Amino acid sequence: MKKHGVLCLSFLLPLLCSASAAADGFDPLSLPSLKAFYADYFDFGSAMNGMELRKADQLPFYAAQYSILTPENELKPDSVLDLNGSQKASMEDQGSVAVTFQSVKPLLEFARANGLKVHGHVLFWHSQTPDAFFRESYSKDGDYVSRDVMLRRMENYVRLTMEYMQENYPGLIVSWDVVNEAIDDSTGKLRESNWTKVVGDDFVLQAFRFTRKYAPEGTLLFYNDYNTPNQPKLNAILKLLDELTAEGLVDGCGMQCHYQMTSPKASLVSAAISKITARGLLVRISEMDIMIDGNTDAQLAQQAERYAELMQVFLKYSDSIIAVQTWGTLDSRSWKSDKYPLLFNKDMTPSPPFTR
Ligand code: GLA
Repeated sequence: MKKHGVLCLSFLLPLLCSASAAADGFDPLSLPSLKAFYADYFDFGSAMNGMELRKADQLPFYAAQYSILTPENELKPDSVLDLNGSQKASMEDQGSVAVTFQSVKPLLEFARANGLKVHGHVLFWHSQTPDAFFRESYSKDGDYVSRDVMLRRMENYVRLTMEYMQENYPGLIVSWDVVNEAIDDSTGKLRESNWTKVVGDDFVLQAFRFTRKYAPEGTLLFYNDYNTPNQPKLNAILKLLDELTAEGLVDGCGMQCHYQMTSPKASLVSAAISKITARGLLVRISEMDIMIDGNTDAQLAQQAERYAELMQVFLKYSDSIIAVQTWGTLDSRSWKSDKYPLLFNKDMTPSPPFTR
């Protein structure tokens, strides 16, 4: 069983060991704050989803722990693309796009009201992107549009997104994942997707060009991926980053960090960060979680060691790492909830990686 108790993350030790949380009458606001502890190093944050934003009683806890939030799903194309509106608009011009930001509004409002930053995730991805985005009149089974039409849709999608944010939430979104997971794991080539099929192999470059053109000055643009430390993927990502850097289009690389207990080794993670940052680029630890197969005390203790080991690596590169974010708040809300991957239990009590 998971327990909560005295907080003493190895690297937080002096600060945290003084705080204790009694099982009964536990007050999550009595916990030391991750964002306060890491403030001198990087932003510390989490992904949050729409459902969590409706739990008003838990919001002060999240505002106290995190300095930056990523909407888990609500800025993905399948949330943002307004298919009905796009269908109507396409009757005039196939390159038109309609967008809606209804589902991300609660997170944006919460962040603004509490002085938190927001990381935008994600503009272009092969997944959670309606197939109809790529088809004539945004229909289910029409022909795929031409490259030219798709490029205009891409540009309009980015322009409308940036305009909406600038008008309604200026300055709130400090960084974006422009493209997610474009590189194939085993070959290191571009992953085949509707993007490569309809636009072509330069879709990543085009995506970054449009985003740089419309994003407010100072907004940081990232390429984001998983298994970043693994070859041949790492070399392919570095090559892509170099191409984007040559045009001044990218500010850094997001490393998702959905990790197992022993893989990848911390030394590999460190080597990957070192290669990215040696290019003068920033790194975001964008979606961290660590899976375990059970929640015995021993397993949780090992997981705590693993978190601590990786956090030590991130601290070593803190000059170039601008944010560390977990992919979720409470274990029970994680996409891998059966793997106990996060820092807090379902009642907001801290899990051993937090309390080590
Ligand atoms: C990837 C994506 C995230 C999320 C996770 C799974 O890492 O980047 O947006 O979908 O998968 O939850």
